[in-house]
Amino acid sequence: MDTTGTLFMPSGASTISGEVDAVFNFILIAGSIIFAIVVGLIIFFSVRYRRRDKPGLTSGISHNLKLELTWTIIPVILVFFAFYFGFKTYLKMSIVPGNAIEIKATGQKWFWSFDYPEGVTTVNELVVPVDQPVKVLLSSQDVIHSFFVPNFRIKMDVLPNRYTVTWFEAHQKGEYNLFCAEYCGTEHSEMVGKVRVVSESEYQNWLEESSTAGEGMTPAEYGAKLYISKSCNTCHSIDGTAGNGPSFKNIFGKTEKFADGSQAVVDENYLRESILEPANKIVAGYQNIMPTYQGLVKDREIDALIAYMKTLSNEQQ
Ligand code: CUA
Repeated sequence: MDTTGTLFMPSGASTISGEVDAVFNFILIAGSIIFAIVVGLIIFFSVRYRRRDKPGLTSGISHNLKLELTWTIIPVILVFFAFYFGFKTYLKMSIVPGNAIEIKATGQKWFWSFDYPEGVTTVNELVVPVDQPVKVLLSSQDVIHSFFVPNFRIKMDVLPNRYTVTWFEAHQKGEYNLFCAEYCGTEHSEMVGKVRVVSESEYQNWLEESSTAGEGMTPAEYGAKLYISKSCNTCHSIDGTAGNGPSFKNIFGKTEKFADGSQAVVDENYLRESILEPANKIVAGYQNIMPTYQGLVKDREIDALIAYMKTLSNEQQ
């Protein structure tokens, strides 16, 4: 993880970060100087012209044209500078270069998923090539989230029923934080991911590997990988502790009681249904908060996850 940067900002790793920082620093410095002058004069005048017993100390000056013009024109010029450079950078950030690769990003309570044109789907991990513009097409499955990559200086609202767009061109390889910057419920602070910037050849290899993922592994081994990469681990432990969802330890073959009073034995079909239609059977004591994984997991991946859960259970069959 990259730890360089300044007091105010993490290191800039995209093509626009330099410009964003320049505007930020200009406003910060100009604002600080004006703040110091104004507050300094307030304090100085309060002491210098404090109320005293002797009358007639002030001369009854009504105004000073030169002084008033100075303190009006200088700030106006500064504001125009801030507007000019701010708007120029804003335009640059809004217009996606024509040669950008497009990745679909989806926000939902409480994770990010990414769909690549090549058919690869990832959860909480956006892998991109360095020195290439990337367009991110954003939408939400539920409430408003916000796609925020501090190192790239981009932040964009992610809305349900509507697409928004942001783009970046990373000019430095590395791993960067992705945050949700809009309060979206109890696990908002856990809605974090990674942007991994790799070389063009690494990117192509990664795409290829990801589309053939699981080959050469047993289903249970692949399931163990998916348990992490699909972020099941955010809510389901494997050591028996209860999280936002039931633990996967000894889950297979156990009799589960549901919120509506019914019960069932946990088998393959129940697990499959719980992944695709989690709201159908809510385990007693838990809330209906799991999003559907419909479209996010392939049948092969569901098989692998079930195989993995079986290995975590005493009663394997
Ligand atoms: Cu999603 Cu906060």
